[in-house]
Amino acid sequence: MIDSSLKFKGQTIIVTGSSSGIGQACAIYFGGLGANVVVNYHNDEDGASESLKKIKAGGGDGITVQADVSKEADVISMFEQTIKKFGRLDVMVSNAGLQVDSPFLEMTTKQWQKVIDVNLTGQFICIREAAKQFVKQSPREESDSKIDTGPAIGKIVMMSSVHDVIPWAGHVNYAASKGGVSMMMKSVSQELAPYKIRVNSISPGAIKTAINKSVWSKQETLEELMTLIPYRRIGTAEDVAKAVAWLASDESDYVNGETLYIDGGMTLYPEFADNG
Ligand code: BGC
Repeated sequence: MIDSSLKFKGQTIIVTGSSSGIGQACAIYFGGLGANVVVNYHNDEDGASESLKKIKAGGGDGITVQADVSKEADVISMFEQTIKKFGRLDVMVSNAGLQVDSPFLEMTTKQWQKVIDVNLTGQFICIREAAKQFVKQSPREESDSKIDTGPAIGKIVMMSSVHDVIPWAGHVNYAASKGGVSMMMKSVSQELAPYKIRVNSISPGAIKTAINKSVWSKQETLEELMTLIPYRRIGTAEDVAKAVAWLASDESDYVNGETLYIDGGMTLYPEFADNG
């Protein structure tokens, strides 16, 4: 069910990494709310086309744009294509991310760098370009007044993870990247709030997507996973999409610099429920 009280008609939204998983669910959800959605993908052109088909079927509009978010030139080109097609940008969902897992003692610099490049530097480039665009399209008059009313001129939602607070052995590059996202989000939020740009992040727990298929596809590992989730179910990409839409909407206009954990209670130290 789409919450139609959230209005996005006429708003343009970039969702990076929206050819699959959480990004795809976000893109489709925004399409159902009438938005113009830029479906960014890296390799999976078919997945991106599928997202766009569903966006249009839901009443939205959009385009697909290939870009590697860790490459500045690709991101700048994605923005040019967005502005050429829709004339403005209202929401940036910097979602694209990946895991390259390895025991710490064996982790190569290449494995470390890949994850930092996409998950951290990629989000940096995307949200910086989004912020520049927000400021450019809505120049604010110099004013002595310290009081301002009215909604944000641009909204940024960054995809973090429960692993911005839960340490994760065997995934040090990933946890470090998400810890970085969390502090980048807060610092950028503090800096951009006076421009009336809101910056927040979402930290999903275990969500049923390709990234963690090895865990949820086997009964034994799924049951083990449930011991980490007090709510006793794995999340869906749509659970996350609904929260992203709320954070990007004017309904959350006074929310700034926050992380919303969408994790069924994974961050509640579940192992302490009957211990400690
Ligand atoms: C990871 C998933 C993992 C989840 C909970 C996410 O950020 O990408 O692989 O299942 O955190 O541990």
